[in-house]
Amino acid sequence: MPAGLLALGTYVPEKVLTNEDLASFLDTSDEWITTRTGIKERRIAEKNEYAYDLAVKAVEDLLHRHGEEALAEVDQVVVATNAPDAYFPNTAALIQHRFGLKAAAYDLLAGCPGWLYALAQAAGQVEAGIARRVLVIGAEVLSKITDWRDRSTAVLFGDGAGAAVVGQVPEGYGFRSFVLGADGSGGSALHLAALAHSLPDGTRMGHKIYMNGREVFKFAVRVMDTATLEAIEKAGLEKRDIRLFVPHQANLRIIDAARERLGLDWEQVVVNLHKYGNTSTASIPLALKEALDRGLVKDGDHLLFVSFGAGLTWAAAVHTWYGGAA
Ligand SMILES: CC(C)(COP(=O)(O)OP(=O)(O)OC[C@H]1O[C@@H](n2cnc3c(N)ncnc32)[C@H](O)[C@@H]1OP(=O)(O)O)[C@@H](O)C(=O)NCCC(=O)NCCS
Repeated sequence: MPAGLLALGTYVPEKVLTNEDLASFLDTSDEWITTRTGIKERRIAEKNEYAYDLAVKAVEDLLHRHGEEALAEVDQVVVATNAPDAYFPNTAALIQHRFGLKAAAYDLLAGCPGWLYALAQAAGQVEAGIARRVLVIGAEVLSKITDWRDRSTAVLFGDGAGAAVVGQVPEGYGFRSFVLGADGSGGSALHLAALAHSLPDGTRMGHKIYMNGREVFKFAVRVMDTATLEAIEKAGLEKRDIRLFVPHQANLRIIDAARERLGLDWEQVVVNLHKYGNTSTASIPLALKEALDRGLVKDGDHLLFVSFGAGLTWAAAVHTWYGGAA
């Protein structure tokens, strides 16, 4: 049987940081941020709130929406994050313990597409019979690794988390394709140091996010186009079959370029970056849940996901929505 999404929950911290707030301590303006990115505000975690805390709240939301049985058969937990609490123990193991799961647990680091990479892992393992159900979380506290003096990055990112359960769905539903890719030659365009302080090309790294915005922009527009078309083709579908496009929420201009190439109307595109900014691995689950809450997703709809990020990496997937999800 195919694997697909069965349950979803999300969380964003309460604290809101608006463009005006940023302009009070950075040389920037609401007008610049809005026209270049589409972002109006973002959420910021409390001092003592980390990826684990946000992930717990997203799983609690999932339980609240779908009931305790949603986690009943979960035997793997994957947390995709670029801002883990620690190198080890991995955040997924803390989640396994917190929810009393009898499950394997690992974190996955693949830039913003990490949640889609993790879904691909989960779907493959469910289809291969290695796992029954997998809890796939994207959780980020980018505010803690942002250089708040760097206006070129500080205006972009936000904190949040999303959690989904992947398991068997009936024939004709679930994931129809995955496209995953990486090009490490672009690693210096978006980086943050851990143990080593230089990349193989000699680029020196610091302990805050560094980004070459123009490089990432060009790369993003290119891969959003190629990865989505490849995912649609691999799924055996045409562009016109896509009902809803749920892209990574990084920049409205990047989303618009992809929308145009796909020939979609704005009503078919989920956009919420004006409220949350770029929440990295949490961005697609946050957008998907919003689409579900707005009644935009119906049984049998083909959904298209795409993301890009540090690595450089990219991922796209086509998923046919199962309305009978637990
Ligand atoms: C970051 C980004 C919004 C910048 O937009 P841009 O149109 O490329 O702008 P540029 O970097 O060319 O900068 C234009 C000018 O605005 C300035 N600028 C940069 N950030 C600014 C800010 N927050 N406020 C005001 N001015 C700013 C620059 O210094 C530059 O000034 P200059 O012309 O005097 O040198 C855009 O490149 C982008 O979105 N890139 C992709 C980033 C991304 O998605 N990253 C996440 C990957 S997961």
